[in-house]
Amino acid sequence: MKKSQTQARVIEPPTIPSPEDVHKRIGKHILPPNVLDKMPDPEELILRSEIAPIIKDRLNLFPFDWRVETPRLMQIYEDSRNPGWSPSQLPWDTLDVDSMTLDQRYAVSYWFALLSVFDASGPAVFARAMIHAYETHEEDAIRKCFFSVARDEMNHEEVCGRAITLLTPNGPLNHDPQTTLGKLARNNIQWLYHNGARYWNGYKKAVEHYPMAILFSSFLFGEVASSTLFHSMYESTTIPVFKEAFKNIGRDEGRHLSFCLALLKEMMPKLSEEEKDTITKQFRAGFIFLSGILFEPPAEFWDLPATFIPTQRLLEEKAREVGFGVLSLEQRKANWRTAVVRLKTIVEPHGIKFPALPEIDVDGESVDFDIDKIIPIF
Ligand SMILES: [Fe+2]
Ligand SMILES: [Fe+2]
Repeated sequence: MKKSQTQARVIEPPTIPSPEDVHKRIGKHILPPNVLDKMPDPEELILRSEIAPIIKDRLNLFPFDWRVETPRLMQIYEDSRNPGWSPSQLPWDTLDVDSMTLDQRYAVSYWFALLSVFDASGPAVFARAMIHAYETHEEDAIRKCFFSVARDEMNHEEVCGRAITLLTPNGPLNHDPQTTLGKLARNNIQWLYHNGARYWNGYKKAVEHYPMAILFSSFLFGEVASSTLFHSMYESTTIPVFKEAFKNIGRDEGRHLSFCLALLKEMMPKLSEEEKDTITKQFRAGFIFLSGILFEPPAEFWDLPATFIPTQRLLEEKAREVGFGVLSLEQRKANWRTAVVRLKTIVEPHGIKFPALPEIDVDGESVDFDIDKIIPIF
């Protein structure tokens, strides 16, 4: 038998140091600020108080305040706290992947990869806008709006991810397509993400460059586009899980649109002529970027190979075979036009000129396109 098992261990009672011992021990070091001899006297403290250094950095989160200048924004934020749905709760188990051919799977997955350029960049785009709103000391309601939109976009990104992963495991790029159309789809996606990366580089510069009114006008265009897109996808898709997803995403996008409208209603009457001109240019830039999904990608921004559009046409046709509601080109044009005209009627009464969009037969001002100034996003 081992010694330790036969002999009971003697436990010494702990020695509790006296307050004098503690003071003696601490006295060797600098006394922490919370050890005080007596309760401080505020009258005495105020005489010894020093003014804190003034924060001079242009972009700094501090000091904080929680002022609300646009109460309507705060109301919409309040309504957005619970979006009423979750991507993980959608009926994904009803998606019958096995009944689809490989090309049909590649085709539906492709559409979500295309959507990802706009929607999966959403969380980072709005998180960046939120940080910028903190740094420029925007009212609390604006900071919270960006937070709410970033949260929604995270859900939209998740839908893209879940759809792509179910249809093309490890997709959209790290899988091995088994058919020619699948290989073409992957090549298209590589080109799409190349353009998405160019957009992100431009956005990062642009977001710091413009005042909130201009940022919100650009976001407004994105939200008009996205609410239109998801509404039409909801109506034309027969696959239950996607129909349900589009209904929820569309509702979120409608709320983002309300955020933009609530703020711009206050801001538009105060815009300078120069700011109004910038918004006109931004709308042209927005149209070109967003046409990548709402219509056809214009060459002014979209750097794509000659095989891109023919491949996309084939994929759209395949997706339609299984009830995935990609609109025809003519329907897309009409849809995009309706959305743009809606935007035009919102801004024109405030003296903001609308750019000419000859691609979809909309008259207006001729403006240059600047690749570094693309802001809009879903
Ligand atoms: Fe949105
Ligand atoms: Fe979105």
